[in-house]
Amino acid sequence: MNVVLIVTLIVFATVVQVITHSGENSDSGERFDKCPDERMICRLGDRSYTPVNCLPKQKTVDIPGFVYCNHTHCEPEVFEHDYIVRNHDQTPHTNKWKRTRVGEAATLHDVCLLRNGLPVTRKCQLKAMRAQWEPIDQWSKVVCMRTFRQHSISVELNNLHDDILEGRRLTNSTQGRRSTTAMMRSMFHQRQRTVLPADIHVTDQVFGVLMDQPKDGALGADLISICHEIMSTDANVLQLSATLNATNSLLNKFENYMDALPHFVRCGQTMVQPASEEGESVDADVETVKFLNFGVQALISSNLSVFYLDPSCRNITGLAIYSAASADRQHSNSGFWYRFLYGNESVNKLKQESNLEAATFVPQQLWDNIKTASGVSIMILKIYAHDALFVETSEQRSRRPRSKVLSISIPGLADGKLPQALPLLLRNENQRHPDARASETGSGCGYWNYQTWLTDGITTDADTTDILRDPIIVCQTRHLTQFSFLVGGSYRINDLGDEVLVSPINERVLDIISIVGCALSLFGVLGIFVTAALFKSWRSQASTKVLLHLCLAMTLQMVLFVFINTDDLSEQLVVHGDTVRCILLGATLQYSILVLFCWMLIIAFLQFQRYVTVIGIERPKHYILKAALVAWLLPLLPTLLVACIDPNSYVPTKEQLDTDTGICYPSGYGLTFGVVLPITLIVVANLVIFVYVFYSISHSLSQSIHRSERKMVYKQIRLSILLFFLLGLTWIFGIFAFMQAGVAFSYLFCLTATMQGFVLFIYFVLLDEFNRKAWLGLLCPTRRKMNVQKRTTELQSMTTTSSNFSGRSVH
Ligand SMILES: *[C@@H]1O[C@H](CO)[C@@H](O)[C@H](O)[C@H]1NC(C)=O
Ligand SMILES: *[C@@H]1O[C@H](CO)[C@@H](O)[C@H](O)[C@H]1NC(C)=O
Ligand SMILES: *[C@@H]1O[C@H](CO)[C@@H](O)[C@H](O)[C@H]1NC(C)=O
Ligand SMILES: *[C@@H]1O[C@H](CO)[C@@H](O)[C@H](O)[C@H]1NC(C)=O
Ligand SMILES: *[C@@H]1O[C@H](CO)[C@@H](O)[C@H](O)[C@H]1NC(C)=O
Ligand SMILES: *[C@@H]1O[C@H](CO)[C@@H](O)[C@H](O)[C@H]1NC(C)=O
Repeated sequence: MNVVLIVTLIVFATVVQVITHSGENSDSGERFDKCPDERMICRLGDRSYTPVNCLPKQKTVDIPGFVYCNHTHCEPEVFEHDYIVRNHDQTPHTNKWKRTRVGEAATLHDVCLLRNGLPVTRKCQLKAMRAQWEPIDQWSKVVCMRTFRQHSISVELNNLHDDILEGRRLTNSTQGRRSTTAMMRSMFHQRQRTVLPADIHVTDQVFGVLMDQPKDGALGADLISICHEIMSTDANVLQLSATLNATNSLLNKFENYMDALPHFVRCGQTMVQPASEEGESVDADVETVKFLNFGVQALISSNLSVFYLDPSCRNITGLAIYSAASADRQHSNSGFWYRFLYGNESVNKLKQESNLEAATFVPQQLWDNIKTASGVSIMILKIYAHDALFVETSEQRSRRPRSKVLSISIPGLADGKLPQALPLLLRNENQRHPDARASETGSGCGYWNYQTWLTDGITTDADTTDILRDPIIVCQTRHLTQFSFLVGGSYRINDLGDEVLVSPINERVLDIISIVGCALSLFGVLGIFVTAALFKSWRSQASTKVLLHLCLAMTLQMVLFVFINTDDLSEQLVVHGDTVRCILLGATLQYSILVLFCWMLIIAFLQFQRYVTVIGIERPKHYILKAALVAWLLPLLPTLLVACIDPNSYVPTKEQLDTDTGICYPSGYGLTFGVVLPITLIVVANLVIFVYVFYSISHSLSQSIHRSERKMVYKQIRLSILLFFLLGLTWIFGIFAFMQAGVAFSYLFCLTATMQGFVLFIYFVLLDEFNRKAWLGLLCPTRRKMNVQKRTTELQSMTTTSSNFSGRSVH
């Protein structure tokens, strides 16, 4: 065993050595010529993934920091999820994960946003030196949104990103890149638009694509403008997007892109020439300024400015920003003033200058020093007006920035270290607007490490005892990055996990269908009751009695479902902890549905008795009353069972409430055994009865029954089928709608469920000859007398042929 272990270790050590060794002289290209693709390995951090070595044959090793060049991306993969299409409805959707670089979080091809505006993401992980999708939790269905009430740019941005990934928008041409950034810029400049956390993530990804392409100075203004807009977005949005590392990643890419712009400053011969770029309007949010004879070029916006300095022109190595004008200061359209600094500047003098906001310069000696040592030629200063893009993810922090953020970079400087200190001057915001939580301990200059603010390698020169009251803070740094003055204290960051930033479109269509349908239904049911109240001869028919019971159950259910047991009310009950009322409401709804179905069963049973069992059987006395007792009492059994055994199943889950699909209604086993099972049994029984009745009638009638009677029987059957479809289908649609099988079912359910009463009214009152005549006689009494004779004869026939469920026993 030990020998094997040792051999393995030796092999591993050799491989690592070979790799690190060859990494240094990786330009020996010949060695890769014969290397098969599947053995070529690349460095993880390298965005362009140039091969650095060829793994020996038959060695399966896992070397940290490396990846097979041929497995650097997770390839697109199909993903099934649900969309919320409106407040109560979901529809399944087949989506696709975008191709993603290892270590990054993929988003979906079609926009899929959570309530808090974060996109649904999936990590592309590194496993055994290969990119591999993070496993998906099979059991929790992803429910997200694609359309929202808010005016968001998410869909546009996502389409842009898709177009880039799928080659419809070429970013490898100058024109393509310029139009891409211009398009993003105009998206962010739309009026009244909402920037969501997802947008920052996608912007970061598009920046990533640009990073892989040749750098283009003409994109600078667009990138600044986009970052300026992002900096101005709501702090909560930035905070949320930081959970995907989007702010840091974006900031990092922005900084690197701006630093990499080639030959951006050229030492010109012309005089001072603060000129805006051709074609750019003066009121554009980013101002391009060139002082070519000074070796300075700048892109300036109100929150974010980038200055390129070429000290070889006029020895200018620094910049000071002011909030007020003075003779030696330049004015920017963004409302501040600036002055270029030389390497011979005195920190103490600078500190005394009025209205100084921030300043930094490389002392002449230091510049000469690094110029000879590293051959640096330009320096880049970025000024962030506030720390919006520097988002910490920890909930508790002990410091926060209270000054502008100054970013200094000198491309080509070996490992970013300075042989001498570089001074920074920052206006202390805390002195102007004190913060009650501020404390002196921990206050001082700090730098950002793309995670949090650190202070090592920076000294803060305090000349009064209380640094919090110093107007200008002076610091010295020995390395380069972004700096700010931090104020100590205990700052909590809100937990924003449940923040709702997007909400589904509140389509009124279904609501209108429901309300109109219900109103019609209630009107219909009312019409049936009034008809029954007015015409005793109709009322006394057994069939009418059954119909009235059915209408009663329907009214109960309709009122409960549409007007009382809504998801808004349920949410209120649950939020206020009023579970008892929620249970009561849910149980009543369950009961009303079961009653309705019981009546359907009874109707079918009466039909069965009438046509299939021996003709001439005597009905027991008060059989309608007995049937009514059964129909109104039997549903109590499953209802009470669910209410007693598992009352909590009536209470909607938090998830359901979040997606607005929760009402007080049984769920889980309560739904299965308390609703679905009885309903299924009844529907199946009805189906069997109908088929059987139909079969036996069509067989027996053909020989023995008169033509007129046959007509009547078919009418009966037609009615049964009407009722079956009216009630049965409704609930089949309902079950599909609740299983989130698609919006179509919601519409069908809504349409059929709410129209039931109205259909019954049409069938039993308007289309029924007797009732129609009775109503006409009532409304136009003059015609009544004329028709009296006719009516009585008709009445006789109607009682046999009118639409009654149990006709034969009535007469
Ligand atoms: C990796 O390289 C091998 C050999 O050329 C090739 O067959 C395979 O398709 C490549 N895999 C990917 C993901 O490109
Ligand atoms: C740009 O990339 C596409 C595919 O990614 C390629 O077909 C095209 O030739 C490239 N164009 C240039 C100018 O490199
Ligand atoms: C976040 O992004 C920054 C900049 O790209 C990177 O340095 C850092 O490691 C990332 N953090 C995480 C947790 O991925
Ligand atoms: C940052 O930009 C926003 C929007 O343009 C502006 O309202 C705000 O005043 C700016 N902040 C500073 C410090 O300039
Ligand atoms: C810049 O500084 C160097 C050395 O410090 C000096 O020799 C040179 O004359 C200066 N150039 C200008 C334009 O001031
Ligand atoms: C600093 O240097 C600049 C040019 O290099 C010169 O014009 C200026 O007078 C110098 N200032 C001081 C205080 O020496």
